[in-house]
Amino acid sequence: MKSRKLRAGMIGGGIGAFIGAVHRIALRMDGLVELTAGAFSSKAETAMASGAQLMLDEARTYTDYVTMLEQEADMPADQRLDFICIVTPNHLHFAPVMLALEKGFHVVVDKPVAFSLEEAKAIQTKVAATGLLFLLTHTYTGYPMLKQARQLLASGVMGTIRKVYVEYPQGWLSTLLEATGQTQASWRTDPERSGAAGAMGDIGTHAFNLAEYVSGLQVTELCAAVNIVVPGRRLDDDGEVLLRFSNGATGVLMATQVAAGEENNVRVRIYGEHGGIEWMQEAANTLLVKWADKPTEVYRAGTGYLAGVAGHNCRTPAGHPEGYLEAFANLYRNFALALLARINGTVPEPAWLDFPGAEEGVRGMAFINNVLRSSGATEKWTSFTI
Ligand SMILES: NC(=O)c1ccc[n+]([C@@H]2O[C@H](COP(=O)([O-])OP(=O)(O)OC[C@H]3O[C@@H](n4cnc5c(N)ncnc54)[C@H](O)[C@@H]3O)[C@@H](O)[C@H]2O)c1
Repeated sequence: MKSRKLRAGMIGGGIGAFIGAVHRIALRMDGLVELTAGAFSSKAETAMASGAQLMLDEARTYTDYVTMLEQEADMPADQRLDFICIVTPNHLHFAPVMLALEKGFHVVVDKPVAFSLEEAKAIQTKVAATGLLFLLTHTYTGYPMLKQARQLLASGVMGTIRKVYVEYPQGWLSTLLEATGQTQASWRTDPERSGAAGAMGDIGTHAFNLAEYVSGLQVTELCAAVNIVVPGRRLDDDGEVLLRFSNGATGVLMATQVAAGEENNVRVRIYGEHGGIEWMQEAANTLLVKWADKPTEVYRAGTGYLAGVAGHNCRTPAGHPEGYLEAFANLYRNFALALLARINGTVPEPAWLDFPGAEEGVRGMAFINNVLRSSGATEKWTSFTI
């Protein structure tokens, strides 16, 4: 069968939204996907204006997602959407995800996967039952230098992993921004729309996902303290978590949105018996590889010496900065290549299947629950239960 572009429909991401626009750049970057339909807003006027701004066919711009999923499911095979991209606030993930799967569409959804652990588990069960592809956009796992770090640690050259430090400091919620009506701050600090956690759900889940993805280990116990720093805020905006991992390694996770002056300073440091790795998003093309008995090595994106999966996720020759948008696009490219292989009846390369899915979604929601349970508990260690 001849290859063709995949057709995507988007739910959320209308005019004034944040991450929908990033998804649109990412899904188009490699020319594998075309945005064909959308239900971009709960407000009909904004939904239609958003479609017009994107020059979408008016007939495929919808004022509600249920109508979109129902009508698109009935389209002939040569027009029907292949997958749905869901970029609504957290409380509006579950219903569209479940309906999209029900209608036979593959799904891309932003993190956290849902509003609660129960919803996340139901999504995981549905994904398994339908056999459809499911991408959870934990952006940072798309960075090639983190893939290089993951492979290096997995190879055993650093010996047993002992320490995992992961940090996600932001400063944009240092004031009561939600009181001004700012859209993204308003729903993120509202328990009815964000979920049980604030910062720990919004960016703590990214940090947690990175800790497990890069180390290749799983958290088994944790000890957390979450805080509401800004008076009047209703959900945590800051916190620290001590971590214990499946192999006995220990570590620390920090997530805060009140580190005034910080932007998106994601940093990962992992140490084994013989050395360690260090990566920072704000210098994303560089991976430091440190050794106990020799000088630190500086690995750079786009170079010929990167191991397989990391090389596959670079796009430009060394020295040309690749960043957040490319990392996001790497998730989409791998997902799209895996989906095209399925459509064409070919075997996908293992590198194409390297993207977060429903299991990571469930672990992320379990992280939120376990952190909140631990923060409110008197005993020191809380088992990581799902
Ligand atoms: N991966 C990342 O790095 C990353 C970054 C930012 C946000 N996110 C996640 O993406 C999601 C969206 O966040 P955001 O900051 O873009 O939010 P946002 O408030 O900027 O955008 C949400 C959009 O959803 C639309 N919407 C709401 N209800 C709808 C409905 N019933 N039908 C159709 N559209 C509807 C809104 O009109 C808006 O366009 C959240 O789950 C968030 O956690 C992920």
